[in-house]
Amino acid sequence: MAEALEVFRGIGKLVSLASAAARGGRHVTDADLAAIENAALVSENGKIKWVGPEAKLPPDYRKKRAKDLKGRVVIPGLVEPHTHLIFAGNRSAEFEMRNQGVGYQKIAEAGGGILATVRATRQASEKQLAAIGQKRVDRFVRQGVTTIEVKSGYGLSLDEELKMLRAAKSLKRARIVPTFLGAHAKPAEFETADTYLDYLIETALPKVKKEKLATRVDAFVEKGYFSADSTRRYFLAAKKLGFGGSIHADQLTLSGGARLAIELGAQSADHLVQLGSEEIAMLAKSDVTCVLLPSADLYMDCAYPKAKELMAAGARVALSTDFNPGTSPSQDVALVGVLARVRMKMTLAETLVAYTVGASHALGLAKQIGSLEKGKACDFAVLTGSIDELFLDVGQMPIHTTYSSGREI
Ligand code: NIG
Ligand code: FE
Repeated sequence: MAEALEVFRGIGKLVSLASAAARGGRHVTDADLAAIENAALVSENGKIKWVGPEAKLPPDYRKKRAKDLKGRVVIPGLVEPHTHLIFAGNRSAEFEMRNQGVGYQKIAEAGGGILATVRATRQASEKQLAAIGQKRVDRFVRQGVTTIEVKSGYGLSLDEELKMLRAAKSLKRARIVPTFLGAHAKPAEFETADTYLDYLIETALPKVKKEKLATRVDAFVEKGYFSADSTRRYFLAAKKLGFGGSIHADQLTLSGGARLAIELGAQSADHLVQLGSEEIAMLAKSDVTCVLLPSADLYMDCAYPKAKELMAAGARVALSTDFNPGTSPSQDVALVGVLARVRMKMTLAETLVAYTVGASHALGLAKQIGSLEKGKACDFAVLTGSIDELFLDVGQMPIHTTYSSGREI
């Protein structure tokens, strides 16, 4: 088989983020934005074979036909480590109710919330979900995103969860990381959260593993959803089968999600709005990535996580949209970055590293993606302007083209 070789020349600045990656995405400084000027990049079979100043491009590659990037800036492809991308319907009425003073948990108790989306998603066919999902993937790709985590969790029965995961598997153009979120809410068919978790452990997890539909699990640890103790039991069963995963942790109340994520060695703990200083210190010492989801905090009109404290303590932070029909009905990557900068006082360097290197760790893919280095996937975004136009204009990422595995998408 002929090897697929792609040579990119005429890169004005290449921001590799290699220094931030070497530090595991921790203790980020402005120096991490240092760029290789007048750079070249070589992709072989989708992986980076060579990266450096164009003047040093080895003669073998110099002879090849190259794609001229016309002096533009190149950054690693962005990574969305937390999305609920596949769902049917919308929850606009709930958004209106919340703004008029009805709480998220109140709405859920009345049969709205997650269970409303479960009803709509069960009505949709796998094909319909795949078509809806693909449009959403394309919307992310246009914003420079090359890897997207996609959760199930709006099926809540074996067949319906499998339908969601199969739809996720069909998605193209971006690198898709599917996560089994059967433990999102207790469906009406079960008396208690624990009997539902037993069902997931006995029927769903082995099937998802056997069909290779996901390698990660997630659970919503929250008052009215799943307790830390029940989730521990569930996660340990999943771990036994080889699943990694994340936890929706300490979003609405301090429910022990972050502590549980650390105890279980989860890849990430997500939301983290309610953390105390003890949890912050524990997370900083752990290998758990802190996935912050500020657009959900905007829509929920709540506090924002203490990003500065987390980072100062040495934690690794990632950012994501949490795109879902309830708490974050937005795919706007620029909005997430602007909120990170304005509301959490993250620097531009911290924001970009969180959206690349940090996010790659959250998915257990730090060796494959997140920075532009030899051996990693050749996933990158070409900017229309300078690096400081990133995460500036809500609704508008300055992206000229997006490349996945060395190919324009
Ligand atoms: O990340 N918190 C749990 N899951 C989602 C919300 C899902 C929904 O409301 O449909 C979240 O915020
Ligand atoms: Fe979520």
